Amino acid sequence: MNLAEKSTYRQLADDLQEMIEKQTLRICDRMPSLRTLARDRGVSLTTVQSAYEVLENRGLIEARPRSGFFVCPRIRPEDRLPVMPAGRIKTARVERPDFYEEVMTAINDPDIIPLGCAIPSDDVYPAKTLSRISNAALRKHGAKAYRYTISPGRRELRHEVALRMLGAGVSATEEDVITTTGATEAVIVALSALTKPGDLVAVEMPTFFGILRIIETLRLKVVEIPVCPIQGMNMDFLDEVSSTHDIKVCIVQPNFQNPTGSVIGKADRVRLASLAVERDFAIVEDDLYGDLVYEGKRPSSMLAHDKGNRVIHCGGVSKTLSPGLRVGWLVSKGYRKELLAVKNVACSATSTLSEMIVAGFFSDGGFDRHLRRIRQIYQDQSMMMRDAVFASFPEGTKVNMPTGSFVLWVQLPRNFDSERLAVDALNEGISVAPGTIFTASDSLRNCLRLNCGFGSDERIPGAIKRLGELCMRQMK
Ligand SMILES: Cc1ncc(COP(=O)(O)O)c(C=O)c1O
Repeated sequence: MNLAEKSTYRQLADDLQEMIEKQTLRICDRMPSLRTLARDRGVSLTTVQSAYEVLENRGLIEARPRSGFFVCPRIRPEDRLPVMPAGRIKTARVERPDFYEEVMTAINDPDIIPLGCAIPSDDVYPAKTLSRISNAALRKHGAKAYRYTISPGRRELRHEVALRMLGAGVSATEEDVITTTGATEAVIVALSALTKPGDLVAVEMPTFFGILRIIETLRLKVVEIPVCPIQGMNMDFLDEVSSTHDIKVCIVQPNFQNPTGSVIGKADRVRLASLAVERDFAIVEDDLYGDLVYEGKRPSSMLAHDKGNRVIHCGGVSKTLSPGLRVGWLVSKGYRKELLAVKNVACSATSTLSEMIVAGFFSDGGFDRHLRRIRQIYQDQSMMMRDAVFASFPEGTKVNMPTGSFVLWVQLPRNFDSERLAVDALNEGISVAPGTIFTASDSLRNCLRLNCGFGSDERIPGAIKRLGELCMRQMK
């Protein structure tokens, strides 16, 4: 089935869902017959069948033998979403969990089905255009393309990044931008510039495990702020913590947070920016996924709400163009000197050729067209995988409903052990990321993150089914 077909049946499923939600189709009503609907909508029988399958998986309709499909008693959509973890005001050092290495090394093994790391499959990258731009850069610059690029990085890339920040509500200049080796280095440099060992950093719970590893390496302490899978960081909790604790930095992913997919609302962004001023902390924003909104405009950067130049934005192209080019950046109005001082020690040069390629792609590679294509792919893949999880996993499983990016945050009943699942699954060649690696505390054991970046891999449906069986076995 190609992507256009996928979108048609999903669209049909969404339309029917709306009719059910608005009670045009009421509980226990018979759904239109496959044939009637196919004729009325001018689509194939297979499309209607697939749409009904999606609705079944969403728990909205059920098939009754020899009678057709009927609308089920309603399960409220919000009852299928993971809940925000309970918070505890407790400062802690971060320790490397056992599973971190397993999840990371699975990336390099093509035999392992990659549901653990947040990576897209190769066919998502615009490889042909990247090669064309790379060849053109080599022809134009010759050996200069192999030189060092010393910080703050190539001017044409910084210029393009500054232009792209406009879409995130920020007017920046190339002087505000420093290029880095991926978003990882951007976060390392930002946190190093703002803290010394032993300082306290507010982090989201759950958060991307890479951020926890950086905090561990810099020997910082954390206090975890619970994340609501819809609205993001709990600002009441941050308010309370920051009123009694000396927080140096709050590190946050406002847009399509990894792993919950949450997006912080406008009012909370303003509140976060105000808290930073009131309680005297800096904000490090990891906005690697902001461009991957499924519909409408990209959400803003925290820089757009900055009060008193306290925000450092970290971005990059690892989830849009290529993770292997290792191009990322920092954008800041207030910390340029401090950031450059660290960057020049940590890794004073970046890849010249990579920066030429990304600058070339931004200026005339059709980046926005490319984004439109991959947003649709990520949306289709994430929604398909969400339906597949509901179809195979134990009753009571909850899954986030992302509006951008390509990861799912799955919450199982309390007594479930995602580390045990990760071991069982890896023994069968499937990698998943257990919830425990997304926190500095011993919690989130009943959660896991699934990567939806590999939708075109035909092993995925079988792998989700198998994961469901392994979960069921554990729950018996
Ligand atoms: C939130 C977040 N930040 C940073 C990174 C690392 O980005 P990069 O590969 O550009 O270093 C990732 C990668 O998964 C991520 O999910």
